[in-house]
Amino acid sequence: MRVPVRSSLERIEEYKPGKLVKGAIKLSSNENPLGPSPKVIREIVESIGEGKLNLSVYPWERKEEELKDEILRYIGVGTARKRKENIAIGAGVDGVLDTLVQIFIANDAEALIPVPTFSLYESLVKIAGGTPRYIKRKWGEDFSIPVEGLISACNEKTKMIFISSPNNPTGNCIPEDEVREIIELVPEVMVVIDEAYVEFADSSLLNLVTEYENVLVLRTFSKAFGLAGLRVGFAVIPEWLAIYYNKVSIPFSVNSVAITAAIAALRDKEHLRRSIELVKRERQFLIENLQRFFEVYPSEANFVFVNVSPAKSSEVYDALMKKGIIVRDCSSFRGAGDSFIRITVGTREQNEKVVGALKGISL
Ligand SMILES: Cc1ncc(COP(=O)(O)O)c(C=O)c1O
Repeated sequence: MRVPVRSSLERIEEYKPGKLVKGAIKLSSNENPLGPSPKVIREIVESIGEGKLNLSVYPWERKEEELKDEILRYIGVGTARKRKENIAIGAGVDGVLDTLVQIFIANDAEALIPVPTFSLYESLVKIAGGTPRYIKRKWGEDFSIPVEGLISACNEKTKMIFISSPNNPTGNCIPEDEVREIIELVPEVMVVIDEAYVEFADSSLLNLVTEYENVLVLRTFSKAFGLAGLRVGFAVIPEWLAIYYNKVSIPFSVNSVAITAAIAALRDKEHLRRSIELVKRERQFLIENLQRFFEVYPSEANFVFVNVSPAKSSEVYDALMKKGIIVRDCSSFRGAGDSFIRITVGTREQNEKVVGALKGISL
């Protein structure tokens, strides 16, 4: 006989990652086309080879401290949040989010999620037994968040608000004055700002963490640093939250190879600069070329959001797949309709191929 599982799990859909097909161009998961810094690879190989990194022992606390120091140097936040206590690390932003949701969401709690957006927020809230409530972004306009609607949806059960900025999949950032308004109007709600793509944007909201106690900012090594396979992310949090984060997070969830790699990645500023430069240049190339036959939206991330109507996103996805190119069919995003695709910015060669393929489809 099957043992009954928690009833909240019946409402949850499995996370479906971007497909990986041998030989195909994968532009579906917003990864870094340059890959990680060669210095990172060298550091991992040499550290293991020389025995500096001993894989038979649990990750060393000192190494984790070193990573936090390096992160503090990288983000360079103001005096109020400059301590290692303000940095919470985890197995990717996904891992950090998992811990955060467990801290704030119990049965009956609610979380507000402006959609369409990254689907993990809603899954984690449901897994924890809470209820996600969805606020539709200004659709077909600039995909901004209707602040009044968001605030009026808050009640005493609301514990978290998830804001992806730049937003996946629409690519836009939330203006600082709007997020400030949200933070100030609901001081008893934790405002989570997910800046997984911020390195490709013109501005960050990180400074808000130094001013308010109910906001935190998430960052990742998976995008601009090209380390998605190693799973490292972090949050900049107010000090009071660190105690709970340390209680709830799984010990050693970031492995020692990942810690070593993240430190080396932060030290190779040149590779980071190259990655950002490539994305900004190639994003412009994609937008300029695709907007000749589709509606393409401005993007501050390493992907572009494209309206392929009157075609259906699933048809375009299939047609591209047949040509060996994988993009994201956004119909899987709650509230994104059935005519949007998301294309990760690739190398010039990859982008030319996707433009050529889409041109054929649009005719
Ligand atoms: C908005 C957003 N946050 C977080 C993540 C996951 O980041 P990580 O690889 O650090 O878990 C993604 C991945 O695509 C994302 O789009």
